Amino acid sequence: MEPLVLGIESTCDETGVALVRGTELLADVTASSMDEHARFGGIVPEVASRAHLQAFLPTLTAALDKAGATLDDVDAVAVATGPGLVGSLTVGTAAAKALAVALGKPLYGVNHVIGHAVVDELVHGEFPERTMALVVSGGHTSLLLFEDSGATVTELGHTLDDAAGEAFDKVGRLLGLPYPGGPHVDRLAREGNPQAIPFPRALTAPKDMAKHRYDFSFSGLKTAVARWIEAREDAGEEIPVADVCASFADAVADVLSAKTIAACAEHGVTTLVVGGGFSANSQLRDLIAARGEAAGLDVRIPPLRFCTDNGAMIAALGSKVARTGVEASRLDVGVDSSMSLTSVTA
Ligand code: KG4
Ligand code: ZN
Repeated sequence: MEPLVLGIESTCDETGVALVRGTELLADVTASSMDEHARFGGIVPEVASRAHLQAFLPTLTAALDKAGATLDDVDAVAVATGPGLVGSLTVGTAAAKALAVALGKPLYGVNHVIGHAVVDELVHGEFPERTMALVVSGGHTSLLLFEDSGATVTELGHTLDDAAGEAFDKVGRLLGLPYPGGPHVDRLAREGNPQAIPFPRALTAPKDMAKHRYDFSFSGLKTAVARWIEAREDAGEEIPVADVCASFADAVADVLSAKTIAACAEHGVTTLVVGGGFSANSQLRDLIAARGEAAGLDVRIPPLRFCTDNGAMIAALGSKVARTGVEASRLDVGVDSSMSLTSVTA
C-alpha cells in the first residue's frame, strides 16, 4: 500500500492539516485567522503565528478523526517550509519535526507554491510527463514548467511587483471595498463592460517581451486605475465602479492567460494547471478556459477549496515526493521565507 502522508500548511493565515494516500485525499481540515486580520486591512504576522499555535492541535485531531486514523498510521510527515511568513512557517515546521521525531517517520519539507499546482493530482490524477502550471494568489504569481512527471520544476516567469490577488485587493481598497477586495472586484466586474476603459497590459510590448517574455507586472496597472479614478473625481464625475472593475479585471486576465498559453505552445506542453487562491477569479477562469480550449490544451483548475491555502496541497506534494523516492529532509531543516521555486523539497 502507498504511504499515508500527513501534510501541514502554515505559511500565511491558514492552519491546514490533511491526510493523503497516493492521490487519494482522506481528510483536509483548515482553520483561518483571516477574521483577526480584516480590521488591519492586511495580514499581521505576529497575530498569524499565535493563531497557528492555538489552531494546530485541534486541526490535527480533527483531520485524524475525519480520516478514521491515528498518529500510528502515519507513514511520513510533510510540511511547507517556505515560501511564506517566517513566524508562521516556524510554527508548522516545529510541529512537523516534533511529530516526525515522536513517530520515527520521515519528514519532508516541501515548497508551498509547488503544492498549489500539485494539489490538482488529488482531483485530476497524476501529472503527465510535462505540465505547465500558473500559480496565482495574494502572494504569488508564477509560471512553472513541471518535467519528469513533476520531479523537475523550472520557473519560467513571475510577477516583478504585485501578485494578481494583491493588485485586486489594492484596487478594492481604492474603491472603498472591504478587505480582501479581490472577490468584491470580481463580483462588480461581472456587471461592467470590460472594454469600457483601455487599461495597460504590462510587459507585452515587443521590447519588454524580449526580456520578460513570461514575467508579469501589475503595479503600473493599479496606478493607472488610481489615476483614472482621481481624474474623474477631480472633474466631479461619478465613478462607474462596475466598468472600472471589469476593465481592470480584463487587463489582468488577458495578460495572465495570453502569456501562459503562449508558454504552453512554445514549450510543447498540452496540460495546463491553474492553482492558488486567485484562480477563483471568474474573469481569469473564463478567459483561460476559452483560450486554452482554442489552443487545444487540457486546462485543469481544481475546485476552489483546493485553491486557497490548505493542508491537502502539502499532503499531495508530500505524497508525490514520498512515492517517487525523493530523499527525506534533515530534522534540522530550516524555514525559508523566500524558498526558490525550483526547490520542490528542502
Ligand atoms: O491563495 P490565497 O487564498 O492566499 C494567498 O496565499 O495569498 O489567495 C488569496 C488572494 C487574495 O488576494 C484575494 O483577494 C484573491 O486571492 N482572490 C480573488 C478572488 N478570490 C480570491 N481575487 C479576485 N477574484 C476572486 N474571485
Ligand atoms: Zn498560497
